[in-house]
Amino acid sequence: MKTYYSKIAKHIRKHSKISIEELQELVSKVNPLVKIATTEKELEKVFFLREKTYARYYPDLKVGSIKDDDYYSLILFTEDETEKLTSTCRLLLDNPKGLSEEKQYGNNHLQQLRKEGNFLAEWGRAVIGRGSKISIMEYIPVLETIAQSIGVNKIFVFNRDCDVQRILGKASFAEVIKKTEENFGSKHTFTAMQLNVSSRYEVNEWNEYASSFLTITTCYQSELLKYCASLLFGNVVDLGSGCAKLAPYLKNNNKIYSYKAVDASQQMYELGQYVLNKIGKKNFSIEKNYIEQHKANKKYSSAVSINSLYSWNNPAKVLQHIFNMLEDKGLFVLATINPNLDMKKLLNNVEVDLLFHPDFDKFQKINTCLANNNNANILPLDELLSLVHTSGFTVLDVRSDFYEKGVTLVLLEKNM
Ligand SMILES: C[S@@+](CC[C@H](N)C(=O)[O-])C[C@H]1O[C@@H](n2cnc3c(N)ncnc32)[C@H](O)[C@@H]1O
Repeated sequence: MKTYYSKIAKHIRKHSKISIEELQELVSKVNPLVKIATTEKELEKVFFLREKTYARYYPDLKVGSIKDDDYYSLILFTEDETEKLTSTCRLLLDNPKGLSEEKQYGNNHLQQLRKEGNFLAEWGRAVIGRGSKISIMEYIPVLETIAQSIGVNKIFVFNRDCDVQRILGKASFAEVIKKTEENFGSKHTFTAMQLNVSSRYEVNEWNEYASSFLTITTCYQSELLKYCASLLFGNVVDLGSGCAKLAPYLKNNNKIYSYKAVDASQQMYELGQYVLNKIGKKNFSIEKNYIEQHKANKKYSSAVSINSLYSWNNPAKVLQHIFNMLEDKGLFVLATINPNLDMKKLLNNVEVDLLFHPDFDKFQKINTCLANNNNANILPLDELLSLVHTSGFTVLDVRSDFYEKGVTLVLLEKNM
């Protein structure tokens, strides 16, 4: 059992810093009845329920005792007052062996999604027993929460045809991939589906952006980076750092003791490592992680976040987390695009200097897409101020003159 628990905990840690206990807390808020299996006894009960049900209803589905892919799965269940299991299902996270019904979703489709930087998972091994107080549909918000917390953005499910309409009705982010002839020896045939878990911006947008973002720094970016760098001191954390383009501006600043960059995108992270290797400062590092899951070894003296807030799924939660990672009197430099941003004008203005840069076309295209994303959280000043106040920060200064008035910078302090 220790093996199951340590294997799944280790697998999750590759993608996110969240622990199974923290995931359980989040799950309980969505549905207090749902538990994540962690003990040997719980797992045995899950396997017993699966075996009993599948032997009866899906005789051709072989799900004996713990299988390799269970080691990569978060196994969920509900139980009654006597601790008898009433339902179960699992979220199998993508792993070197792939998903269990991999070919049903189309191998090329999955490979393409993986190449684009998507984190895949499969929802399966579901049993809803007679005494269950929750239906299979009630597992959907739980799965969505788990997925968002560990960065899964596509969940695949191979389910009975008769459930398809109910899933489509419950989850607007679900789509049918294909109907199949598979029936596992039962009277049901099965349909392959994909659940697209929402995030304001998809990870692959940032991944695609990374290379041209590294090689191009416009005059607008450099002015903002320089100004932010001049405000920072002590142990610094850069949240949504991209490829750590701020680091070169901090390199010779003797007010800086250490610099930690945090970014969720794999490509930004890799290029960030390249940037930091080039700079060669021993206290400068980058971590691939979601801001809201970053765990500081000690509190930071100052934090900075440049043009990242507009893409956060839950800005209040992220700001609260940033507040908690700062020392008392710690400074937070927050810059984000505002509704005055005129991306077309900005790109036009920088074109004269960058026209022959090999990455400029890509840079232009991606910036236009990012700025036109209808999901972007582009806040007017009063809403931004109200958001930072709610998170407990004191506002020391506001500047709205960056990027031709399209970026607002707020200087915040943590006062206990
Ligand atoms: C436009 S880039 C800005 C990069 C950098 N701050 C700069 O100005 O040079 C936005 C970055 O925020 C990151 N990001 C967005 N939401 C994030 C989150 N919740 N946790 C970690 N990184 C995030 C993206 O991966 C992306 O690299």
